[in-house]
Amino acid sequence: MKISIISGSHRNPSQSEKVARYIETELSNNFDDIEPWVYALADNPLPLWDQSLWEDNEEWDQRLAPLRQQLSESDAFVIIAPEWHGQVPAGLKNFFLMFNRFELGHKPALIVAVSSGDGGAYPVAELRMSSYKNNRLCYIPEQLILRNVEQILNKKSEDNNVETDGYFRERISWALGILRGYSVALKSMRETTEIHHDKFSNGM
Ligand SMILES: Cc1cc2nc3c(=O)[nH]c(=O)nc-3n(C[C@H](O)[C@H](O)[C@H](O)COP(=O)(O)O)c2cc1C
Repeated sequence: MKISIISGSHRNPSQSEKVARYIETELSNNFDDIEPWVYALADNPLPLWDQSLWEDNEEWDQRLAPLRQQLSESDAFVIIAPEWHGQVPAGLKNFFLMFNRFELGHKPALIVAVSSGDGGAYPVAELRMSSYKNNRLCYIPEQLILRNVEQILNKKSEDNNVETDGYFRERISWALGILRGYSVALKSMRETTEIHHDKFSNGM
C-alpha cells in the first residue's frame, strides 16, 4: 500500500519536513507492504488557488497531474501541520483546495501537529473542523502532537531530549500501525461501497 506524507510547512528547512522524513523511514523500515511518499510544501510549490483551476487551464493541469496520480494511488495519508500563529499554514489549506474526493475520498489520515513549544492543539482542531468536507478525507481518532519538536527525532542523539525523544519515537511507531490498520479496513470499504454520487459530489 502507498502512504503519502504531506509536510505542511512553507519553511525550508523545517521541523515538519524533519518529522516527515522520520516517518517515511519508519514506514519503510517497519512495514514490508508500505511504500511511503513525501510531498513537502517547502518554498510553496503550489501557487494559490485561482478560478482558472476550474476552467481546464492547461498550466494547472500539467502542474497537478503528477500529484493527482500520486494521491489517487495512495491508500492513506499522514498530514503534518506546524502551528503557525495558532493556525495551519496557508499553503496546507491551499493544498486542500486543489484535491478532491477522487484523490482523497474515504481514505484514512493521521494528523501530526508540530510545535517548537507547548502548542500544537490548534492545527488538530482546525484540520478536524474544516479540511475534509468536500474531499471526504477520514481523519482517524489517533493523532500526534509533537511538542518541543526541536528536541526530538534528530539524527544526532546529543540533540535529543532522551526522555521525550524515546516517548515520541514509540508513540509514532504505534500510531503508524493504527493508520495501517485503518488503511486496510477502508480499502475494502471503498471497494464494496458506491462512494461517489454525482448529485452529492460535495459534503454538507
Ligand atoms: C509564522 C510562524 C508562527 C508561529 N506560531 C506558533 C504558534 O502559534 N504556536 C506554536 O506553538 N508555535 C508557533 N511557531 C513556531 C513553530 O512551532 C516552529 O516553527 C516549529 O518548528 C514548527 O514549524 P516548522 O515546521 O515550520 O519548522 C510559529 C512559527 C512561525 C514560522
